[in-house]
Amino acid sequence: MAITEPTEAALQNAVRALHDGDLIAFPTETVYGLGAAALQPKAVARIFEAKKRPLTDPLICHVATVEHVFALTRSFSDIARILADTFWPGPLTLVLNKHARVPDIVTAGFPTVAIRVPEHPVATALLTEWDGPLAAPSANPFGRTSPTTAAHVEEQLREQVELILDGGPCRIGVESTIVDVSSPAAPRLLRPGGVAVEAIEAILGYPLDIPQADTLHSASPGRMRHHYAPRTPLYITSSSQAQHSGRVGRLAFTKADCAEFAAVEILSPTGDLREAAHRLFGALRQLDSSHVDVIEAEAVPEHGLGRAIMDRLRRAATSSK
Ligand code: TXA
Ligand code: MG
Repeated sequence: MAITEPTEAALQNAVRALHDGDLIAFPTETVYGLGAAALQPKAVARIFEAKKRPLTDPLICHVATVEHVFALTRSFSDIARILADTFWPGPLTLVLNKHARVPDIVTAGFPTVAIRVPEHPVATALLTEWDGPLAAPSANPFGRTSPTTAAHVEEQLREQVELILDGGPCRIGVESTIVDVSSPAAPRLLRPGGVAVEAIEAILGYPLDIPQADTLHSASPGRMRHHYAPRTPLYITSSSQAQHSGRVGRLAFTKADCAEFAAVEILSPTGDLREAAHRLFGALRQLDSSHVDVIEAEAVPEHGLGRAIMDRLRRAATSSK
């Protein structure tokens, strides 16, 4: 395994490794992905093995341009077209009816396939060179915090990947927003993420269908209650004071009383939710490695990217307090 600069030679090595059925890690604007040749079931199986991810949890296919999408889906509705035109390349994943060509292991047997066109220049260069779909979940062991730097991937999946393309820290820092547009019903939000719900609704001119947590699991099996978790127990709080005894780590939104906590990470001193999303996973990792007994995460306002931040915190939490 090697972390490498995304030179032309490195991209060609990556493509060779993909042809051989190996796994590579690459940057996207959201988080780093663990990529395999999407149309090679054996290569895709290695993703599940490497992450220890249940085979019931489907993967996202990444492609260079919207033209590649048509080879993977049976139908592309007007709504899908509008969302793709507006938000691709970018942090939006569309769930569409799958073409028979997409192996069942990619979609966990679902008749639908999740697809996105990422906007990171290294992802685009890789996908262009590859000239096909890459199945790629976030490059972390199943249930753990997603990686936003090449070093994060190396810490957790060193043994499993052939190479890691280093594209620097991910600009957005939380995963893509997932919208199901596979049925004629209103588009459904399966995961809040890098595109704000408000931005999608502004384009549609009507509200997204937002399923309740209990129906969500059957619509999108990866949306488990417990996910993105640090090893240290995490609680969400709206108090500025420590709620636990012992060494308490504080994940603060804009500020924190440093005397009160054993370790402090501030997501955005100016209260910018984009900056907070960008820092979220790195800050969680930092607190997790600072030998605290418990992490107390301050709730952030739930609009714009705040919705994705709170979604990740709730899933990372042991329970709320
Ligand atoms: O930003 C992202 O989306 C990142 C980067 C690498 O692109 N990828 C990512 O993948 O977050 P992953 O595997 O960690 O999360 C994919 C989610 C899972 O919750 C999965 O259940 C859901 O997408 N999903 C995939 N295919 C689906 C389908 N056909 N129907 C419903 N949900 C699907
Ligand atoms: Mg993930």
